[in-house]
Order: sequence, then C-alpha cells, then structure tokens
Amino acid sequence: MCGIVGILGKEAVATQVVEALRRLEYRGYDSAGVATLEGGRLTRRRAEGKLKNLETRLSNEPLEGLVGIGHTRWATHGKPNETNAHPHATPKLAVVHNGIIENFRDLRAELQADGYVFETETDTEIVAHLVTRELDRGKIPVDAVAASLPRLHGAFALAFLFQGEEDLLIGARKGSPLAVGVGEGEMYLGSDALALAPFTNLIAYLEEGDWVVLHRRGATFYDKTNKQVERRAQRVAAGAFLVEKGNHRHFMAKEIYEQPEVVGHTLTQYLDMANGKVRLPFGDQIDWKNLSRLTISACGTSYYAGLIAKYWFEKLARLPVEIDVASEFRYREAPLPDQGLALFVSQSGETADTLAGLRYARQNGQVILSVVNVPTSTIARESDAVAQTLAGPEIGVASTKAFVCQLAVFASLALAAARARGTLSAQDEVSHVQNLISLPGLMARALELEPEIEKLARELSKAKDVLYLGRGTSFPLALEGALKLKEISYIHAEGYPAGELKHGPIALIDEDMPVIVVAPHDALFEKTASNMQEVAARGGRIILVTDAKGAAECGIEPEATIVMPDMDPTFAPIVYALPIQMIAYQTAVFMGKDVDQPRNLAKSVTVE
Ligand code: F6R
Repeated sequence: MCGIVGILGKEAVATQVVEALRRLEYRGYDSAGVATLEGGRLTRRRAEGKLKNLETRLSNEPLEGLVGIGHTRWATHGKPNETNAHPHATPKLAVVHNGIIENFRDLRAELQADGYVFETETDTEIVAHLVTRELDRGKIPVDAVAASLPRLHGAFALAFLFQGEEDLLIGARKGSPLAVGVGEGEMYLGSDALALAPFTNLIAYLEEGDWVVLHRRGATFYDKTNKQVERRAQRVAAGAFLVEKGNHRHFMAKEIYEQPEVVGHTLTQYLDMANGKVRLPFGDQIDWKNLSRLTISACGTSYYAGLIAKYWFEKLARLPVEIDVASEFRYREAPLPDQGLALFVSQSGETADTLAGLRYARQNGQVILSVVNVPTSTIARESDAVAQTLAGPEIGVASTKAFVCQLAVFASLALAAARARGTLSAQDEVSHVQNLISLPGLMARALELEPEIEKLARELSKAKDVLYLGRGTSFPLALEGALKLKEISYIHAEGYPAGELKHGPIALIDEDMPVIVVAPHDALFEKTASNMQEVAARGGRIILVTDAKGAAECGIEPEATIVMPDMDPTFAPIVYALPIQMIAYQTAVFMGKDVDQPRNLAKSVTVE
C-alpha cells in the first residue's frame, strides 16, 4: 500500500515530507522519493529500499523548496528500483500515486501515439503524461487535472506538483484514501491523518471521487462531477490517529470503503501485474501439481470465503476440495489423504476451532497453508506456508475487508494451482489477471450505490425475517449476506442455494418476507431467474442484486434492483460482496444498532 504526502510549507519541506513518509512506513514499501520546486523548477530525489537511503540522498544533495510531494512505493507495475520510484515527472509536473490505473496500457498507447515518451514500466507515469498533454494544449493546472481524472479507470489516490507553481498542490481520490491537513499558513496532503500528525490534527477527508486544490490560504474541494463541495476539517483526537474512523460514522463503514484499496494492495503481493501473471509470495512451497486433495476449514465469514474458494479451485485447477466449518471438522475424525493440503482461513489467526483443526490436519500428515490477516498470529506461526491478506487492522466486529482480501488471495491461489496443474493456458492467465486488476475500480463503483442501498435499508429494517438466495459462487454470498444482516441488525436471516428453494424454504414466502437474490448475469442466471419466478408467483418481495443485463432479463418486477457494474463473472463475488455488506450496514444503522460492537459478539473467538 503506497503512502502519499504533500506539503505547502513556509520553510524547506523535504525533511517534513520524509518525516510524514516515515509515519506511513507501516503500510509497507520498497522505494521512496520526494519532489520539490527549487526556484520554481521541479527537482526529485528518489531511492530504492528504505527511507534512510532517501535521507542519505537528501543529505548529499539537499532540497530547499517550500512545496513538495513524497511517496513510499510498494511495487505493482515494474521493479522496485529508483527509475520506477515516485514521484514520476515530466518537465511540467510531478505526481505521486497510490493504487492501480487499470486502463494504463490503452492510455499509454494513446499518449505514445501523440509523441509522449515513457521512461518507466509504471502505470503512474501515464498520469503524469496525461495531465501534461492537457497542459500542452494550453490548460491551466486545475483544468488539466479536471480534464484528465475522468480518463483514469481503477482505484487511486494522487498528488500533483507543478513546475513554477509555488502555491499549488492538487490531490484526488477514487477508491484509495486521501486526507487534507490544515495548518497555519501551511497545507498538507496525506494518505491518512497519522502521516500528518506531527504538523496538524485539523483534518478534512476527501470523499469518493473528490479532488482538491490546495493553496497555503486553504483548500477547495470538488466532487466527481467537478462541482465545488464543502468537506469540513475536524480535529482528530490525540491517540486516535492509528485507528481512526476518518469521516465515517463507524469502523465498519470505514472498512467497507477501504476495500478497493486493501484488495488492490493484497493483489499486488500475488500478481505480477506488468506481465499478467500470478506470483505467489511463498514461491514454490506448495506442490500444487501433485496434490491429491485440498481440505479447507474455517469459521463464520472466513468459512464462507473458503466456500467460494472451493468453486474456484475445482473449476479453474480441477483440484478436489473438501470444506467444513472448523468446529465440526476438528471432531469429525475425517480421514485425510496422502499428498493432501489443508488450508485454514482466519482474519485473526487465533480462532480456537480453526487452530484445533490445523493441529488435527498436522497430526494427519497434511501440508498446512493458512490465509490470515495477522502474520504474527498462532495459526500463521503453526503453518508451513502463510498467504497473508493485507487488509490492515479490522476493528469492526463484523468482518468486511478481511473477507474480500481472503477472496482476492484465493483467486490468486486458484490461478497458481491451475497453472501448475496444467489447466490454465498462458492466455487465460493473462485475462484472469487483468480481471483481478480491474476489481478495485469496480469495487469503487459499487460503493457509489450506497444512496440506493440506504433507501432499501429503510424498508428492510421493518422485516422480521429475510431470505437470501444465490447459485454458484453467489450462494456463499447469500450465506454471508444473511450472517452480516443478523449479526449487526438482529433481524433473522437465512441464506439458501436458489435451487433448494422448492425443497422447503419456499413455504416461508409471503408478502412480508423480503427475498434478496444475488444474481450477476452469469451462466446460472437463467436458473436463478426461474427461482425468482417461483417467489414472485407466491407474492414474494424480491430485491435483486444483479447487473444491467440481469435487470433487463430477470422476467419479473422486483421490489428493488441494485444494478452493479458489468464484469467478468469468475471473480465477481469480490465485488458483489460490497452491496451485501452495505445492505446489512445501512439497515443496522437505520435501526440504531451498535454496528461496530454488536451484542454478544467478539472479534477474536479464542474459545470453543
Ligand atoms: C462475521 C465474523 C465472524 C468471523 C469468525 C472467524 O462477520 O467476523 O464470523 O469470520 O469468527 O474469525 P477469524 O476469521 O478471525 O478466524
């Protein structure tokens, strides 16, 4: 997860920029850089490796500029060397970037055709040239950025510094967070308030799609339609810097909104984005080719992530998968095969049942792989290989961002297994990887559905029971939707495979019970549409979560339809998880429930 800093100061800012970058080190990085204006001229210092290397460069070749931007880079496109380190620059501007520009190949070709020459393999450099082209066409910096931002697909945060502009910084946010710090005659940009803590605690947050123009006298915010908007700066309480809610009411909301960023961050660890390949951080430690079976075990939301993974491993890698909740698996005395891999999924890495299942699998000769969010946890320590989810600390008791990161890891593992087992062509690998790269951008678009979901939540809050239906990978999402709703709103909910409806639960259908159907227009859509007909014929109230094609072809008139962006269906659950979470969140908020700490629940369940 890259870190971004920008400072419009009264004195030389390079040292402060590095100080702020140091506070973003926890996000992880492998190179760093800073750019300032030296007598109006853009000047950069960059270094591979840790910040101390950048500091050595700066002490040998100091920078005196009063305005600057800085960056810690976690390599995505291109190696972690000095050339690829940010800021990226043209003679007219420098830019730092956090996130992934999904359509960088197309934009690069377009800009090259216009005569722009690229020095690096990064997606960020296209942003520098895109805005430069607008400047070359005669626009002033603010207009050049406004014209360029809509061309960028993906999830990102950006900060720009312009040649000759001693009193200007521009920042933008889509899917990756960005905060503005207000000082006395000084202004700041940072990936989070923590970065800016040494300078100011008066913080305003950019909302999704916002961009901001900073002068020393203040900040002007614009929304994604370029309309000027107000984003009030508020004092961040001392001590709250590390785990703060930003301008969200609850940690759960913050964590839902962080998902494009943390999924992007997680994927960078599992994909070689520049070459369209999967690249596992633990290399060849798992002999995917010769595995006889994969046994997955976990609890709650982590178990549902495992259920989705089962579909991917079986379909893509033709690997047989057994899965069970850990509290059953540990006591079943299940026979485990030779050459078997046992996979344990846990956000906390401390869940007692999951850990006991791991120890059982170890005693029974399995190789142990864990997917955990806390790398120092017991489950991680007792595993042969660890696939970490880079969701960052999850504070809300109801898991959200850890779940989608688990899915992102599973998608990568399933592709790696498929490649090793010879069930995935090189061409298909490139296209699946491209689909994965597009997920953070699609997630950012799904978050824009919040106002519609809020309206829907008002209705749902009146329900006593809710049924969730889905087929294929949408079935575990139906289970997850029901779990989320019951744990934070206390409304009774059940998740069912849509095809099972007529084998029992259809008896429940009446005009009082909402039925939430998760159904992207995939190969199974028609089957699910028939099940919706069955519900509609009995006067049931259907809430459909689908895409434009699904909405057009569902053959019924749902009470409400949440229309998701179009996407390839394979990894769609990673994006469809968001409306599912938002439905539960908004319903619970409307009902005035304690969303972050629901009754009776604990974040880390270390008892049986
Ligand atoms: C639900 C939720 C729980 C956890 C479960 C396992 O929102 O958070 O169902 O998923 O307790 O916890 P971990 O993943 O820490 O093993």
